[in-house]
Amino acid sequence: MSKRFYITTAIYYVNGQPHLGHAYEMIITDVIARSRRTLGQEVFFLTGLDEHGQKVQQAAQAEKKDPQAYCDELAADWQAFAKKLELTNNDFVRTTQARHKEYVQAQLAKLHAGGQFYKSSYVGFYSTKEETFLTEKDRRPDGTFDPSYGNVTELKEENYFFKLGAHQQWLIDYIEANPTFVQPDYRRNEVLGFLKNNKLEDLCISRPVSRLNWGIPLPFDQDYVTFVWFDALVNYTSIAFAHPEFELWPADIHVIGKDIVKFHAVYWPIMLKAMGLPLPKQVLVHGWWQKDGAKISKSTGNIVDPIAVINEWGLDAFRFYVLRELDIGPDGNWTDAGFKSRYQSELANGLGNLLNRSLSMLKKYRGGIVPAKSDELAADAARAADEARALLKQNQLQAALHSIWGLVTRANQYVDQTRPFSLAKNPAQAQRLDEVLYNLVETCRVLAVLLWPFLPGTAVKIYAQLGLSDEPNALNAATWGGLSAGHAIGEPTPLFPRKEV
Ligand code: MSP
Repeated sequence: MSKRFYITTAIYYVNGQPHLGHAYEMIITDVIARSRRTLGQEVFFLTGLDEHGQKVQQAAQAEKKDPQAYCDELAADWQAFAKKLELTNNDFVRTTQARHKEYVQAQLAKLHAGGQFYKSSYVGFYSTKEETFLTEKDRRPDGTFDPSYGNVTELKEENYFFKLGAHQQWLIDYIEANPTFVQPDYRRNEVLGFLKNNKLEDLCISRPVSRLNWGIPLPFDQDYVTFVWFDALVNYTSIAFAHPEFELWPADIHVIGKDIVKFHAVYWPIMLKAMGLPLPKQVLVHGWWQKDGAKISKSTGNIVDPIAVINEWGLDAFRFYVLRELDIGPDGNWTDAGFKSRYQSELANGLGNLLNRSLSMLKKYRGGIVPAKSDELAADAARAADEARALLKQNQLQAALHSIWGLVTRANQYVDQTRPFSLAKNPAQAQRLDEVLYNLVETCRVLAVLLWPFLPGTAVKIYAQLGLSDEPNALNAATWGGLSAGHAIGEPTPLFPRKEV
């Protein structure tokens, strides 16, 4: 059995509907998963839901619903959302599933037996919003806590703690010896800075049932449930080992947002070390989206509804905008004007126009039959394919799209330069017209192959319009000359209808 490329998203709290930020994370993960598939690797892509904890319990209470029934309803929406985005996930985890709960309990029992936990009294402050304990040093100079913590309450309780602190130097050494473990580099430096300048506190891994009962019971003390983060992080392994038919662990990439780096780059590696498991190869950290320069927030109404955008403009227009606009790392800003402008210039007038005029001319001048091979654009196509291949291997999705669009632009210029509509008027130029038409339709075919990880629906449509019955899902097929003389293409239809804006 050979190891599969195993990639995950964070798992999402089921306390509301998915928004732009969640969609972005799912899409970049899907593009990386598809990239590896198109490069010929076997891939396992996991996404899913984080269903326990106070946040979810409170959301269920607010709707006067039993937490499990509440999660079941929302889980159906989130699963439908994954389909709407055409994610190629191989499984969908819900942390309330028996397969996950049993695995968490088995790990807890093992760690407890191995002396990794101790019971101690905690006196301090608690942020429900962040599901985290706070201390005096988290107060701001004016004595208050940052509003991002929400309502902070004071409490005193007995809990179980995991011995994190003991592994601080080991983790520093590990991250220093493995420079790609946390990416981009500036996130890695932040983690190292945090570890070198703070004493790592032990991690509280329990919550008393008297305060919170929506969680996985500790197998060794029924008065407690497991802290939601301990439960959640373990999903990456519980599901990997729920698939004995594949070799999955260690994960190749955990894709997460910048707000949860500490959990993934500090707590999780130490948990895995204690569990006796190898560490994931990489934690890949993306930035956060804003809309119109302000935080996305349901309460202020500053939101982008991905489903509404997809229903109006199509899935691939949505995928294209978020991938082309924002590299993995920095923060991004959604504007409706920016979205429409990219749709119009890059999709409708760029790619869409290239395909439509290439195929329409082939229909009109050659009855839709591909002429003899010609290789005037072969070098341009090969350059775009080589660049895309190299960039996809490094998860440089935005740069890869940029290279691919270089080929779109080149081919559109080629139409303007060679003027096939004029050539068609002159019977003496018949052979030249054949050459031009071949170069155009073959470039469209190569583009479909290169675009498949990013815009899978569009890639499939291009292949269908070219009259090709296979799927454009293997990068090797980007080699020039795939279309043969005499092949009959299908019907040209606009990929991205122009819209009044
Ligand atoms: N349940 C935890 C994660 C557990 S992983 C073992 C959680 N859930 S979350 O629903 O709040 O966030 C899930 C992911 O969505 C995180 O990676 C987070 O960074 C991402 N995003 C949430 N809002 C976002 C934006 N506005 N922009 C981009 N990503 C955002 O944290």
